[in-house]
Amino acid sequence: MSTRPNAAKWSPDSWRSRPALQMPDYPDRNALAEVEAQLASFPPLVFAGEARNLKNALAQVAAGEAFLLQGGDCAESFAEHGANNIRDFFRLFLQMSVVLTYAAASPVVKIGRIAGQFAKPRTSPTEKRGGVELPVYRGDIINGTDFTAAARVPDPRRQLEAYRQSAATLNLLRAFATGGYANLSNAHQWMLSFVKDSPQSKRYAELANHITEALGFMRACGVDPQSHNELRTTDFFTSHEALLLGYEQAFTRVDSTTGDWYCTSGHMVWIGDRTRQPDHAHVEYCRGIKNPLGLKTGPSQKPDELLRLIDVLNPDNEPGRLTLICRVGADKAVDLLPQLVRAVKREGHNVVWSCDPMHGNTITSVSGYKTRPFDQILKEVRAFFQVHAAEGTIAGGVHLEMTGQNVTECTGGARAISDEDLNDRYHTVCDPRLNAEQSLDLAFLLADLLKSERQGKANKTQPLPAVAGL
Ligand code: PEP
Ligand code: CO
Repeated sequence: MSTRPNAAKWSPDSWRSRPALQMPDYPDRNALAEVEAQLASFPPLVFAGEARNLKNALAQVAAGEAFLLQGGDCAESFAEHGANNIRDFFRLFLQMSVVLTYAAASPVVKIGRIAGQFAKPRTSPTEKRGGVELPVYRGDIINGTDFTAAARVPDPRRQLEAYRQSAATLNLLRAFATGGYANLSNAHQWMLSFVKDSPQSKRYAELANHITEALGFMRACGVDPQSHNELRTTDFFTSHEALLLGYEQAFTRVDSTTGDWYCTSGHMVWIGDRTRQPDHAHVEYCRGIKNPLGLKTGPSQKPDELLRLIDVLNPDNEPGRLTLICRVGADKAVDLLPQLVRAVKREGHNVVWSCDPMHGNTITSVSGYKTRPFDQILKEVRAFFQVHAAEGTIAGGVHLEMTGQNVTECTGGARAISDEDLNDRYHTVCDPRLNAEQSLDLAFLLADLLKSERQGKANKTQPLPAVAGL
């Protein structure tokens, strides 16, 4: 008999017999069982066919024919749930996609960290303030942010609210994506008001002018958004970390058309850097569902371990099934990435390589805020592209923590947000996010890098431009 972990029989609850890190200890087990039974009776949020469409789109990313843009809040917050936040996030996403599509002539696969990104893995199980120590906040689906003993008790009923909000968010996103808001003729209107007087906004307005001109030309040729769906609508997918496995199990359903199991709480789910042990619960759960999967890979990931995880999670080497989301930190990327990329390439594994330039670059500011310097974020992105160019592999996409709001959470950027500025609009309930301006700025850099990469591939004699800051 094979000793491969995959050889064991899988079921939606087989993770329960494995060690599970980062899961809350619910004091009221009966209430938990009731909630899980209720969730299992609720309609799915996504349809298996959509998850398959995303897998096909990601297969194109793996082949270098499209670029992956994945991003959103570190942790969605119940209190910030509302139409304006969702709209501002979606229009920023559209702007970034347009920059990438137009400037780099590459289709963009759009995946939000949204409509279910509520559960957080934490470095420490407790938090100390002054002399008081309480259980740590683990995301709104589990407990509350208030620093009181009562708020920090894991409450299973929060899962019902997370489902309700996810359904409402997804409903609005679907309306925006297909109801006319994403029409390319609206490219000018997507500018967020507070970004209007920035250098990025000028660059974006120029680009929107070019699009308007191009649409005018196409209209004259008989091709217009009314008759061509692709110009009027877009595909937008959802994703979150599959951390709270009882919740995910409740949404694990058999697809009637294929007979396969799908996780229907989002199109794509990922395994976090803290819960990627090959024989533990999170990997066990994810290996059995057919959705596209993400795997976070941090600085402690060894090439052998990564290969083992790929065997478990993508035994059939299916393109688009597995996205490796590297988050090693700007200063370590050129040292650590090549060995991972080489090992995966040597074994012939078909994966999407994505860069999360956020989680390896978190520091505590002098003022005490968790922050990320924008320059370090750019540096990791550049290093990621440089390594893939050198190894002859594909820099497939990015994974960002970002918001459509005008927050001050990451330092630097065009407005040179300083340590002292962080206090102005620091709203995240977990990790610091890029604000709208910083995100747009990053999109322009990505477009330049992507353009060079794709041109370099088309014309091998033309070297990539030198990478500054490495
Ligand atoms: C996250 O994406 O918010 C996160 C916790 O990431 P990681 O697992 O890579 O630390
Ligand atoms: Co985070």
